[in-house]
Amino acid sequence: MKNNETNIVVGVTGGIAAYKSPDLVRRLQEQGFVVRVVMTAGAENFITATTLQAVSGHPVNNDLFDNEAEAAMGHIELAKWADIILIAPATANCLSKIAHGLADDLLTSLILASSAQLMLAPAMNQQMWKNKAIISNAESLKQRGILLFGPDAGEQACGDVGLGRMREPSQLVEALVQWQQSASASDESEVSGILDGVKLLLTAGPTVEAIDPVRYLSNHSSGKMGYAIAEAALTAGAEVTLVSGPVSLTAPPAATMVAVKSAKEMLLAVQQHLAQSDVFIGCAAVADYAPSQVARQKIKKNADSMQIELTRNPDIIAWVGSQKERPYIVGFAAESENLEAYAKKKLQDKNLDLICANDISDTSIGFNSDNNAISIFNASGRQKQIKSMPKAKIAEVIIKEIAKNLN
Ligand code: PMT
Repeated sequence: MKNNETNIVVGVTGGIAAYKSPDLVRRLQEQGFVVRVVMTAGAENFITATTLQAVSGHPVNNDLFDNEAEAAMGHIELAKWADIILIAPATANCLSKIAHGLADDLLTSLILASSAQLMLAPAMNQQMWKNKAIISNAESLKQRGILLFGPDAGEQACGDVGLGRMREPSQLVEALVQWQQSASASDESEVSGILDGVKLLLTAGPTVEAIDPVRYLSNHSSGKMGYAIAEAALTAGAEVTLVSGPVSLTAPPAATMVAVKSAKEMLLAVQQHLAQSDVFIGCAAVADYAPSQVARQKIKKNADSMQIELTRNPDIIAWVGSQKERPYIVGFAAESENLEAYAKKKLQDKNLDLICANDISDTSIGFNSDNNAISIFNASGRQKQIKSMPKAKIAEVIIKEIAKNLN
């Protein structure tokens, strides 16, 4: 579907982040989407219908019982017209009403009457986002295939710091475009449906280990391989949780994204999300060591040389492999020599089911490249060699291998 054939209803609810909605509408239109805006009564405390009407170029619908608006494009007609309904900001109240199928205003009635893909950009106080009722409502929305973009962490209008900020309009538009592309690609993909109902937890990217407030130790992992696996797993029908170190890629919108920095944070995130996972994939290039002490202040360059003492980081995948009730585990090995021997040793030592070995002495593949070539080994030593190809294709091969073995 081309953008200029895609109709989007932007729903604006009553939160301070509503001031970002005109920017969102404008950016969607710049991408060629056809946009209509629906506001709740609460939203009108933060932004006027006139502003949104001026930006969208269409009357803004805000009342279920407005005869004039119903005569122009009634709410049922609007529900049928929409290909996508994007609610930004989505307050805790709105998110919870949708989770429970309530329809007490124009926006929530429209949602019930529509078969459009529903997307929410939650925005609320960080303590509200941590509330068990909201966690459970958000989980129930995800299980119904409703996409949640964000919220992001940072300083909030109320002065609190934490998860709850609405994702920036530019990132929402990027995520939406990416979702649209992957939705049309998945129609043709060979892996479609082969991991239906499987819960997959995945690590990707590098970890960064702080030396002082401005310096760190890290590696060249771009996250491309891991993000491609997340994408392929989603296409295959899996429910994906992506634990990622800092990268400059946008996570697939349908994945639950957990952003981390250090190996210790990555381990914590994996420990928090492992419980219900059927499959764990360790694609991250985890730093093996971290500075023993993180200097509180920037280290001054007074001496001609300096030494940094390093302490071994926890091995995340080995921890997963040591669990009594462990999922199916796939590791990676990035090696510059003795590829097969080192990969097989890691498979055994870390108690893995499969290992994908990349030869990083070849700079056209592996770290930060768009292509990869891997050898896949299983626990009985069987090998499958995959020649150099785009990481998206390599990811599909890995997903097919996992699906075959799970069956
Ligand atoms: O991100 P890209 O630029 O696309 O590059 C992809 C990649 C080369 C990073 C990827 O394909 C890859 O090979 N990832 C693993 C790289 C690596 O560092 O491997 P390793 O040999 O150090 O670790 C072996 C396995 O143990 C891996 O599954 C790793 O995620 C895991 N591990 C390692 C150390 C540690 N402390 N915890 C871990 O979980």
